[in-house]
Amino acid sequence: MIYFKKTGVEAENIEGKSILEIAALKGVKMQSLCKKGLCGTCKTKMLSGEVEMKNPFALFKNEKEEGIILTCIAHAKGDVVLDV
Ligand code: FES
Repeated sequence: MIYFKKTGVEAENIEGKSILEIAALKGVKMQSLCKKGLCGTCKTKMLSGEVEMKNPFALFKNEKEEGIILTCIAHAKGDVVLDV
């Protein structure tokens, strides 16, 4: 389950889809540009949970430690709560 806390929307995780894609399917508006992990436009705070991200080039080390994710390339591993 992916929970968008500020908007109060819950979404089932869909294998193979990024969190950004799942948000769009549920009508949750999130900013994005490159959709490849390069620009950082989709940076979002993850409050709990775990995601898999391949090559998150737009994230600084300290941002990763603070739970910031790139939703365009993030795939949920189990339940995830986002500050959106
Ligand atoms: S939209 Fe560019 S890093 Fe996600």
